[in-house]
Amino acid sequence: MEREAVLVGIDVGTSKVCALIGEVSRDGRLTIMGHGTVPASGLKKGVVINIDQTVRSIADAVERAERLSGWKIDRAFVGVGGQHVESLNSPGQVAVTGHHREVSREDVNRAIEVARAVPIPSNREVLHVERRGFSVDGQEGVKDPLGMSALRLEVETHIVSASATAVQNLSKCVAAAGVKIDELVVNSLASAEAVLTETEKDLGVAVADIGAGTIDLALFQEGSPFHTRVLPVGGNNVTNDIAIGIKTSLAVAEELKVRHGSCDLPSVVDDEEISVSVLGESAGRTVGRLEVCQIIEARMRETFELLRNEIRAAGVGMLPAGVILTGGAAQLSGIAELGREVLEMPVRVSGPSSIGGLVDTIMSPDYSTAVGLLQWGAISLAGGEPLRYESAPAGGGIGRIRDALRSIFP
Ligand SMILES: Nc1ncnc2c1ncn2[C@@H]1O[C@H](COP(=O)(O)OP(=O)(O)OP(=O)(O)O)[C@@H](O)[C@H]1O
Ligand SMILES: [Mg+2]
Repeated sequence: MEREAVLVGIDVGTSKVCALIGEVSRDGRLTIMGHGTVPASGLKKGVVINIDQTVRSIADAVERAERLSGWKIDRAFVGVGGQHVESLNSPGQVAVTGHHREVSREDVNRAIEVARAVPIPSNREVLHVERRGFSVDGQEGVKDPLGMSALRLEVETHIVSASATAVQNLSKCVAAAGVKIDELVVNSLASAEAVLTETEKDLGVAVADIGAGTIDLALFQEGSPFHTRVLPVGGNNVTNDIAIGIKTSLAVAEELKVRHGSCDLPSVVDDEEISVSVLGESAGRTVGRLEVCQIIEARMRETFELLRNEIRAAGVGMLPAGVILTGGAAQLSGIAELGREVLEMPVRVSGPSSIGGLVDTIMSPDYSTAVGLLQWGAISLAGGEPLRYESAPAGGGIGRIRDALRSIFP
């Protein structure tokens, strides 16, 4: 296999920090060469609240991945989460100025610059300016306007921004762990790379990465994201509810959820008892599995209602390809069925696919963000478009388009 590049992705999550080292071949295939995952301490709902603890988690994850792969990590694509992530769509229009009235790269960049010039408060940092599509002289739906004859060029962009201080704190932690940042990528867009197909993005689809503290959500239509948000609920809320509901520790509640939990109440036999003593409580007692599952179902139903309201508020009636659930908490049994009932849309659970190498643990939904960061990196390498190597100089194309954008919009 001819190697194009070695890339690193670091997902700094609420419950775990995961560093992945991947090799991208010239035909765009990704092979995992090393991974390190450690429990995270120092984050709350996707946001750094303790610098020292977060630095230690990142450094530990990086060191493990290095030991497993034999590579030294010095730079990485890093995921950004937290409720402070927001998005908006902004159009930009310019007159085509070129010699023959043909759309040039410069016209495209100027149109994006106009779109990018929406007032964004100084306490926010723009993470992404994604081009959704172009219109030339009012003709919509143009994917690539370069070389077209036109008087007027309009671009539609999707702008994702985040709290500047939250981003600075995360960047500080990554730097203190000895790693430079290739690019900060919002978690949901990374996860989307790992679990969505191009067809689904074209049809209209949502990815909901349900983690420990948050849901990273991104909605796609006509191949591009148009709504990106983070909801402040996740698997931890389910665990907390169980701990309170049956009066037990968080550790026992977590184990009850993971080992015995389900959102599918009809499948739960109502006299099934679980012995809590074997789960680490000294005084032996039993709890009804049905009671545990009722607590889980109630919280997940409420969570899907939040998701449904968010999708409706984004202004889409229907997403033909439905909602793809991923993230650790998407492994809850019966979750897709409950999701389908509440969201009234197709729902399935998915993890990363089409990767090779050390994949045994990595194929699970809790690794979607980390794998997606590598895939995002691979796309940057290809010049901003999936698998279009012919347009990029061999080996020299890393982040060309994105870097070009950055240099225009500092
Ligand atoms: N088999 C399972 N069944 C149900 N829940 C599970 C299972 N495995 C993991 N979880 C839950 O998944 C959550 C962790 O998911 P993940 O690793 O995606 O979170 P994270 O990325 O650290 O957090 P966030 O994205 O919110 O910052 C925890 O709440 C955990 O309880
Ligand atoms: Mg996560």
